[in-house]
Amino acid sequence: MPPSCLRIGLIGLGIVGSEVATRLLQHREAYRRRTGVDLVLERVLVRDPVRPRRVALPAGMLTARPEDLLDDPQLEVVVEVAGGEEPARTYMERAIRSGKHVVTANKVVMARHGPALLELAGRANVDLYFEAAVGGGIPLISTFKVDLLANQIERVVAVINGTTNFVLGRMADAGLGLDAALAEARAAGYAEADPSEDVDGWDAAAKLAIMASVAFLARVHPDCVYREGIRGVDPIDFRYARELGYEVKLLALAARRDDSLEARVHPVLVPHGHPLASVQGARNAVYVEGDLVGQVLLQGEGAGGRPTASSVVGDLLDLAASVRRRVEVRSAPRFDDELTVLPMDEVRTRAYFRCRVVDGPGVLAAIFSIFGEEGVSIASAIQKESDGRWAEFVVTTHPASDAALRRTRERVSRLQVVHSVGSFLRVL
Ligand code: HSE
Repeated sequence: MPPSCLRIGLIGLGIVGSEVATRLLQHREAYRRRTGVDLVLERVLVRDPVRPRRVALPAGMLTARPEDLLDDPQLEVVVEVAGGEEPARTYMERAIRSGKHVVTANKVVMARHGPALLELAGRANVDLYFEAAVGGGIPLISTFKVDLLANQIERVVAVINGTTNFVLGRMADAGLGLDAALAEARAAGYAEADPSEDVDGWDAAAKLAIMASVAFLARVHPDCVYREGIRGVDPIDFRYARELGYEVKLLALAARRDDSLEARVHPVLVPHGHPLASVQGARNAVYVEGDLVGQVLLQGEGAGGRPTASSVVGDLLDLAASVRRRVEVRSAPRFDDELTVLPMDEVRTRAYFRCRVVDGPGVLAAIFSIFGEEGVSIASAIQKESDGRWAEFVVTTHPASDAALRRTRERVSRLQVVHSVGSFLRVL
């Protein structure tokens, strides 16, 4: 007989943990009716068990001793929502090794150690769920693992960091500088404690590594993801971008290129009319192309206690259903070790350059000849009337290798007649 009860140990009682605990306690009966399995929250591991909490838990449920969860043979599942790399990774590994299923919302651990932990879970014949590790409440991992499994995934392009999307939106619409827009994001409760996580693209790179690993069944470590944040975007770029028919977004992109993968995070000019151009505020959206399904867009709240708890508890209910179905063999995904990440130099993309140049004869000819020598074809060029000395000159290109585009930027910026290449952004 399958167990009619799944006993849960929860690690972490912060914003997400409180929502998970509340949901499990308040909906226990409804979930039991839905799955035929009683989801019982037994223990909660916290740093300080006597600190007042926003969720009222039965006496004795809180503990500060990891072994009360990890060494308790009665617990069948560990739910990890504490975050951070350590000790969370060690706890997850210990739980898996002792035969417990694991459900986690941990982006850092899954980005850096996901494939190894999934393989360990396969060997231990337990499940490791991580829907909540990327995109809060948006069903991404299960979509790749189940609904899109029949496809060869060609491309995943995502607005996956809510803070930078909010910040870029405020810079575009209200003309704010980066610091002022970021202060608004913090006041609204979006930004990470360390703003560099958002602004420099670390958060998006970790999320892309997880999504790409699942979508392409490749081992994509965040260190292999090419990464540029939004510090190089100037408020004036939004005006030029709009004039040219684009919005500026921080995108996370992964794409299949023959036997390799592109995996990159950087600001991109996205054409008006593309579904990702209209993603507003701190929302997230993931655009997927599969060979069978065509184009799919998934969007919603990418962070926050309740959306993230939706994914965590959803994973628990899926686990309960598998227990109820008496699933006996739980296997790890088979990663394709041949599929490696292409160096950014070899990625072909389009680019946008904004330069301040001397307003005099032969200047554009000198610039254009560098583009020509590097084999970079110009798609559009705008020059505004100058202030008497410097003129602003904006170019978009046709696709070229990123190495050629960056060499072009470097060579143009060294010309005597060029004051600076103020911005260099890619174009979708
Ligand atoms: N700081 C993240 C974001 C939320 O802005 O999307 C947590 O992943």
